[in-house]
Amino acid sequence: MLELRPIVMSDNPQLRIKSTPVSFPLSQKDEEDAKYLLEYLKFVNVKENAEQYQLRVGVGLAAPQIGIQKRMLAIYIQNEDSEGKVLDVEQLILINPRIVSHAEQKSYLKSGEGCLSVAVDKEGYVPRYAFVTVEAYDLVTKTMLKKKFRGYEAIVIQHEIDHLDGILYIDKINTKDPYAPISNAIEI
Ligand code: CO
Repeated sequence: MLELRPIVMSDNPQLRIKSTPVSFPLSQKDEEDAKYLLEYLKFVNVKENAEQYQLRVGVGLAAPQIGIQKRMLAIYIQNEDSEGKVLDVEQLILINPRIVSHAEQKSYLKSGEGCLSVAVDKEGYVPRYAFVTVEAYDLVTKTMLKKKFRGYEAIVIQHEIDHLDGILYIDKINTKDPYAPISNAIEI
């Protein structure tokens, strides 16, 4: 059983602090905290756990969401076939992730975004780049990673990197017209 830590919610100003880079070699605490991010996502993605502990299911978690203002995040995305069978899982623990290039084209989720730190989903389109190339140290493979993210994964990674800069998805929704068309954008 994972020892659960509370999720910092959006009314907490801690979530608005710009996180600091992590130094290498990783301290034991940084490594434990970073690994916890992925463990938490794995835990809540088991249906029975989410139900038993009344936890929301998420695909990404950043260190500030557990009260640590350091540039670390995890993603855990299960790719499923049409019957819900898991085909593969994208799992990463990224330390000091950096977007080194991105598309001019935008994308957004048709259904809007959600966040474990935002209790009630806010409706509306959240403009993102259609693809981003990210450099980071990945604690899962223990290697430096340079990877191009597309589609849904690109949205998730941008959402999580925003957390490291104190930015929430709700900041990016057009307040006057949440579903205003976004030019040069792919709908996902
Ligand atoms: Co979030």
